[in-house]
Amino acid sequence: MSIISKDIQKAVVLLNNEELVAIPTETVYGLAGNIFSEKAIKRIFETKKRPFFNPLIVHIATIAALQDIVAEVPEKAKLLAETFWPGAMTLVLKKHKNIPDLITAGKDTVAVRIPNHTTTLQLLTQLRFPLAAPSANPFNNISPTKPEHVAHYFKDDIKMVLDGGACKNGIESTIIGFENGEPIIYRLGALALEDIEAVVGKVTVKNKKEQNPDAPGMLQKHYSPLTKTILTSTVLNDIQLYANKKIGVLTLSSSYKNKGIKSEIVLSKNNDLQEAASKLYDALHQLDHQKLDIIIVEKMPDVGLGKSMNDRLERAAFQE
Ligand code: TXA
Ligand code: MG
Repeated sequence: MSIISKDIQKAVVLLNNEELVAIPTETVYGLAGNIFSEKAIKRIFETKKRPFFNPLIVHIATIAALQDIVAEVPEKAKLLAETFWPGAMTLVLKKHKNIPDLITAGKDTVAVRIPNHTTTLQLLTQLRFPLAAPSANPFNNISPTKPEHVAHYFKDDIKMVLDGGACKNGIESTIIGFENGEPIIYRLGALALEDIEAVVGKVTVKNKKEQNPDAPGMLQKHYSPLTKTILTSTVLNDIQLYANKKIGVLTLSSSYKNKGIKSEIVLSKNNDLQEAASKLYDALHQLDHQKLDIIIVEKMPDVGLGKSMNDRLERAAFQE
């Protein structure tokens, strides 16, 4: 029997019993457990093979619930929360004393967001606790944007994937921390930098590990297909360079179909970055399952969600 199900009540029962359930959000699927259950939280790290130094995001249903998660909310954080929640933005704030150290990897801050997905919001309102949920993929793999991706990754290791369809945004939330009350971007994501700056003015981006040792998830190699992946602005050159290989190509809108390649996925014929972002991970999943020698990915335009996509693609293509 498939572990994929639309039954919210079943998810409630499992989570109340300290089990894990994969949940849909507008960004990517999360692997969720009760933040106050040590058993559930340890299972999240084990199932993902995630190192304990990498903290988790807490998911809540309302801004009112924030008071039990964080100790203080800077003015600009309040403004961002009111503008973008429910939505693809995670805030890193001083933690409430009741938040377990396992969630925050011992840090004095906690990451929190209200996801914009009806199914998961319904689920959260039926629980008496918030959900910790990292992306539902094994450590360093591509994040899941469809229930099938999660089932494929974990098979019988989890009891249920709550089916909420394909993720609308398809790329992880934008993470924002605060230094002296000023917002700092720790991870570019589904909420574009320009949209954030329209609300709080110019913000600093520290999304590289060396710029911000406080964001432990910002590894250089991450979100990676198992197939060798390269990121390039000159796709045709690279197709010629690897002419004797089985090549898969991933582009924004151009086609290289008749250039001797094995397969191709075009993300958005109309150059729509929102559409492209929503399809990006699914395309990488598909290409990764095609037994190719190499995946050649076209660099996205360096604006809006293109910036966030390039961040993920650089990590996917990173060679040690
Ligand atoms: O869109 C998303 O954010 C998805 C969905 C499921 O909500 N979740 C997600 O979680 O991407 P995860 O665990 O894959 O990424 C969380 C990131 C990690 O890079 C982690 O290091 C960072 O958030 N993080 C968590 N708590 C933090 C903290 N207190 N300070 C700095 N970074 C933190
Ligand atoms: Mg992740």
